[in-house]
Amino acid sequence: MRVLSGIQPSGKLHVGNYFGAMRQYVQLQNEGNECLYFIANYHAMTSVAQPEELANYTRELAAGYLAAGLDPAKAIFFRQSDVPEVCELSWIFSCITPMGLLERCVSYKDKVQQGLAANHGLFCYPVLQAADILIYNSDLVPVGQDQKQHLEVTRDIAVKFNNRYGEILTVPKPHILDETAVVPGLDGQKMSKSYDNTLELFEPANRTKKKIMRIQTDSTPIEEAKDPDKCIVFALLKLAASPEEAAQWRQRYEQGGMGYGEVKKRTVELYNELLEPFRKRYEELSNDRDYVEDVMREGGKKARAIAQELMEKVRSVTGIVTNG
Ligand code: ADP
Ligand code: TRP
Repeated sequence: MRVLSGIQPSGKLHVGNYFGAMRQYVQLQNEGNECLYFIANYHAMTSVAQPEELANYTRELAAGYLAAGLDPAKAIFFRQSDVPEVCELSWIFSCITPMGLLERCVSYKDKVQQGLAANHGLFCYPVLQAADILIYNSDLVPVGQDQKQHLEVTRDIAVKFNNRYGEILTVPKPHILDETAVVPGLDGQKMSKSYDNTLELFEPANRTKKKIMRIQTDSTPIEEAKDPDKCIVFALLKLAASPEEAAQWRQRYEQGGMGYGEVKKRTVELYNELLEPFRKRYEELSNDRDYVEDVMREGGKKARAIAQELMEKVRSVTGIVTNG
């Protein structure tokens, strides 16, 4: 099974990215799939205008992926821009993608509402994403729920292309886990760098603690029963705890006699246990820029070789290349 996914270098990695996407990346990699993971730096240009900022976020994300368990001996890890053929394929796809398909994408409207410039790049973002996925004949794309519509656009484009030019592209499937589809942020909305409601993956332990202890809870007295499914703290605890421990806490909510302070304290412990090894490794990698750069350059070569093979076929069947 060929697995592919990407994350934009447009901010600090957070726990939503980890549970929604990165943890699946690592799992799929360790299960022996052929995995390709990349840093979507062309996509990030839709929201990051400063060159220095884009370069820094790219370096940080590279170290971040590796710190969270991506293993370059098992997976191909690279920068999107090291495979410039995706831009070529994106143009070819643009010529078969109906405007209506892109006009229906909610992510474009959401991002414009959040203040991003309504430019052509943002509008055709899903077309470049389709090129990212289809250029490697990917079977499976692990992502969070918010990417589901983009995956549908990708599948539509693949089918349209195959109908017109022959069965060349693999129609991929999204891999979205129910329990981590949408990780809530500290305010109960979806955790997102745009909402300033995140637990960052590499922030110091005392900041993680402060943020969790400050989560708003209701004023149900200690002795009364509480609804775990309405509590942000429980939602976060559930992600980091073993299923057995999560079940025990559920019971304690429901039977009463438990205060929010107590469950918050345990949540802090669980997150610090989870994040401490990541923080250590991230610091080491941040001090070893050459290693990270080498990993990405090597990964870029391997990814490009796969992409070039497909592009030869695409150029031929579309009539772009005529000497064959
Ligand atoms: P953000 O919303 O912070 O801008 P991105 O859009 O860069 O995050 O997301 C990168 C990856 O992480 C995507 O696969 C996305 O689906 C996943 N992801 C982001 N936030 C969450 C969340 N709160 N819950 C589940 N998955 C998420
Ligand atoms: N759009 C994705 C996001 O915002 C990033 C992305 C770009 C991606 N190309 C991709 C994800 C290809 C999966 C596959 O998170």
